[in-house]
Amino acid sequence: MNKNLPQLTVIGTGYVGLTSAVCFAAHGYNVCCVDSNQAKIEMLNNLICPIYEPGLSELMKENRERLRFCTNIPDGVKFGDIIFICVQTPPRLDGSADLSYVEEVAKEIALNMDSYKVIVDKSTVPVETGQHVMDTISKYTKHEFDVVSNPEFLREGCAISDSLYPDRIVVGVSSPRAESIMRVLYGPWDYTKLLITDIKSAELIKHCSNSFLAMKISFINSISRICELVGADVKLVADGMGIDKRIGEYFLNAGIGYGGSCFVKDVSAFIWIAKKLGYDFELLKMVEKVNRDQRTFFIKKVEKELWILKNKKIAVWGLSFKPDTDDIRNAPSLDIVKHLVDEGAIIRAHDPVAIQNFKHEIGENQSITYHTDVYDTVKDADVVLILTEWDEYNKVDLNKIKSMMLSASIIDGRNMFDMDTVRNLGFRYQCIGRN
Ligand code: NAD
Ligand code: UGA
Repeated sequence: MNKNLPQLTVIGTGYVGLTSAVCFAAHGYNVCCVDSNQAKIEMLNNLICPIYEPGLSELMKENRERLRFCTNIPDGVKFGDIIFICVQTPPRLDGSADLSYVEEVAKEIALNMDSYKVIVDKSTVPVETGQHVMDTISKYTKHEFDVVSNPEFLREGCAISDSLYPDRIVVGVSSPRAESIMRVLYGPWDYTKLLITDIKSAELIKHCSNSFLAMKISFINSISRICELVGADVKLVADGMGIDKRIGEYFLNAGIGYGGSCFVKDVSAFIWIAKKLGYDFELLKMVEKVNRDQRTFFIKKVEKELWILKNKKIAVWGLSFKPDTDDIRNAPSLDIVKHLVDEGAIIRAHDPVAIQNFKHEIGENQSITYHTDVYDTVKDADVVLILTEWDEYNKVDLNKIKSMMLSASIIDGRNMFDMDTVRNLGFRYQCIGRN
């Protein structure tokens, strides 16, 4: 054990908390992970990773001697010199962020502090949350403390490399003491740009980054509609735009819109906090609308292809909100499959890892069967719908798929395939923003 390194506590061992804890451990820190979910902690104590995240389980096992897992916040608070808040901040019905989990943890930390602590918010929160956290902690402790905002930018599916090799680390502080502690903490990341700001700016950087990326996606999805109207190719348009360094090539893939736990909730939380502060963020409202419309637009393509949906056999490829994750929160597949089932279609769904989560979310439904072999979805099918661009679909034998289908038709919501190749095989192949 390296006595010079600060000890860390991470409260909330979800995607962000567990990944951060494991990556800190990989850099030599001793980390106490606390979660109120007993079942999760039991799994972790048996070195079973509760989420599907490539590489996480292996890295956790490699660093097991520096990691401990418990449900007891008082022990966790006493253990850590630096305490990370990594709990969920889900959307409320009005679109604002539910900060009750953050408040509860802040209070628990304050009640159990026995010395100076740095309390670091890693959960995504609206601007000015740091001040509320400070006020909450001050109410319940006489000990000295600092609050820091350290937003997380990892993506599911590549969370480990995003955490070990981030583009930047943002740290919002209100005291030189907290700044120097955070600089030491991130010392092992000396190959990464460390941006020190005030707390409010750090909080805003997170909401702005997610909203900007969501805006890029809605922009290119709008362009995809124009491309379809005039017979242009959105992939070529995106390539041509992306070469310009000021625009950048990333997040310009047109498709059925963004899903996941964060873009949807963070854009809506940003609109809400902006309104509360006195600004009507109309631009972001349009980003949301375009995103919703993109799912409806895809459904219309299916309706146009199949005419009557009742009793049509539809193979659905991909359920997770993006590849390499089993997360189906806000996945376009949920809205699309629900609509098709309501119209009487028979769904045969495939996903490499997200079937259990999807089933759990959508409930038992006799019109949907689930398959782990993609070929089992296409027997006598009227159409294949690609909803998630899993790499596995690049490797399927399309000749075999065609021979098994009733009608050789693919509607690709993720623009996966080369159009000419698929059409030359005899498929009717429709995608997004390409004719
Ligand atoms: P999650 O739901 O996967 O995990 C949150 C964990 O906190 C759960 O295990 C829950 O049991 C635990 N928890 C809740 N209340 C607790 C309490 N009082 N004491 C102890 N544990 C408690 O959430 P997540 O996806 O890791 O996201 C956490 C935060 O990070 C959110 O604000 C999210 O917006 C943000 N974020 C998420 C991602 C991502 O890719 N998932 C990326 C960047 C930022
Ligand atoms: C996103 C951000 O990329 C992370 O930086 C951030 O930390 C995280 O949200 C968060 O705050 O939780 P994530 O939701 O894991 O990460 O996934 P992304 O890879 O960003 O994809 C989000 C959605 O956008 C997916 O549904 C994806 O299919 C869609 N997308 C992405 C597009 O439709 N087109 C694109 O060009 C890119």
